[in-house]
Amino acid sequence: MRVVLLGGAGYIGSVISAELLANGDEVTVVDDLIYATKERRDKPPFGTNFVRGDFRDENLLRDVVKGADAVVALGGLVGEPACDLDQDLTVELNYASAALAGEIAGECGVQHFVFLSTCSVYGRQDGLGTEETPANPLSSYARTKLLAEEHLAKVCQGNLSLTVLRLATVFGLSPRMRLDSVVNSMASRAARTGEIPLRGGAQWRPLLHVRDIAEVARRALHEKRATHPEPYVLNVGSDEMNYTIEHIAETVAGRIEGARVVRTPQPEDQRDYRISFARIREVFPGSCARGLGEGVDEIAAAVASGEFADLDQVGYDNLRGLRLAIDENRAKVLRTPAMRRLADEYEGRWTQA
Ligand SMILES: NC(=O)c1ccc[n+]([C@@H]2O[C@H](COP(=O)([O-])OP(=O)(O)OC[C@H]3O[C@@H](n4cnc5c(N)ncnc54)[C@H](O)[C@@H]3O)[C@@H](O)[C@H]2O)c1
Repeated sequence: MRVVLLGGAGYIGSVISAELLANGDEVTVVDDLIYATKERRDKPPFGTNFVRGDFRDENLLRDVVKGADAVVALGGLVGEPACDLDQDLTVELNYASAALAGEIAGECGVQHFVFLSTCSVYGRQDGLGTEETPANPLSSYARTKLLAEEHLAKVCQGNLSLTVLRLATVFGLSPRMRLDSVVNSMASRAARTGEIPLRGGAQWRPLLHVRDIAEVARRALHEKRATHPEPYVLNVGSDEMNYTIEHIAETVAGRIEGARVVRTPQPEDQRDYRISFARIREVFPGSCARGLGEGVDEIAAAVASGEFADLDQVGYDNLRGLRLAIDENRAKVLRTPAMRRLADEYEGRWTQA
């Protein structure tokens, strides 16, 4: 199968690339390596056809998408603080680029579009969020991802089917490592300093190992999905992996000798949700089985073996990396006609709401 990964050189994309290559797929990655710095030269995933470029570029998209069987859109800005830095940039990278890629995939005769979305679209919920629970997006991160889902559902029609994967918070080792997400940050700091900073702690957060999402992406692309509703939305994670932040910190402390939790004041983050993963259990039995301990142990072992010499290096932290990319003019708003059209649609959708 010929698969195009948009944003495929990032934390999750590097692991999905390896999974698909091992499966015998032909993988093309489009990525602008926006977090690469002098200290950290991000490399394209080994073995892929790598196109360094901007996935908002219509001509580039048409060139790479033509002849592909499937497109996976997984680029953009991740998490609320990064998305709050520049609203217009967030709309282009998270919403408009995915919407445009879906439109072009349809024109080019692609059969399957997979969009990596987020459980953040549930925002704050009482009870378990299922795929049918009305979304409650509390941030521009969640709003851009949700509108991308909605737009893709409209353009992925006929021969082009759509799968939306709403990911839990991802953890575990990747060749393009991020140490800014909750588990990776706690585990790496505990292994290096013995301290686990804990802000707040009562909020629920579902977790997902990075190799599990890679397997789910492969299965979504390859396994027959005859019985599913269209468009197909799947929460990706497992019921056993709904944790509170405090429980994550305690688990990390319990697995790393000498580590202790250090509490700091409650954060601004309002997200608080527990998710039902009943549908994915039924559709992809046995998926998302890796536990929190496995990820903590592998990160602690990597730190102990001398990887991540400087945990504060900007390349491990998307928020600081994005600030630098904006300051150095490597990440900027394009305002092409397509981006303007889609940005207007975004504006209209959320001012009506
Ligand atoms: N990491 C998580 O915990 C998590 C949780 C839920 C959902 N997701 C979703 O998964 C996807 C991937 O997340 P990640 O953690 O791998 O992010 P990441 O930041 O590591 O990767 C994103 C990639 O997109 C690339 N990119 C950004 N703008 C670009 C542009 N204009 N042109 C070309 N490339 C560009 C970056 O260079 C980077 O390699 C995102 O869509 C995110 O919303 C991630």
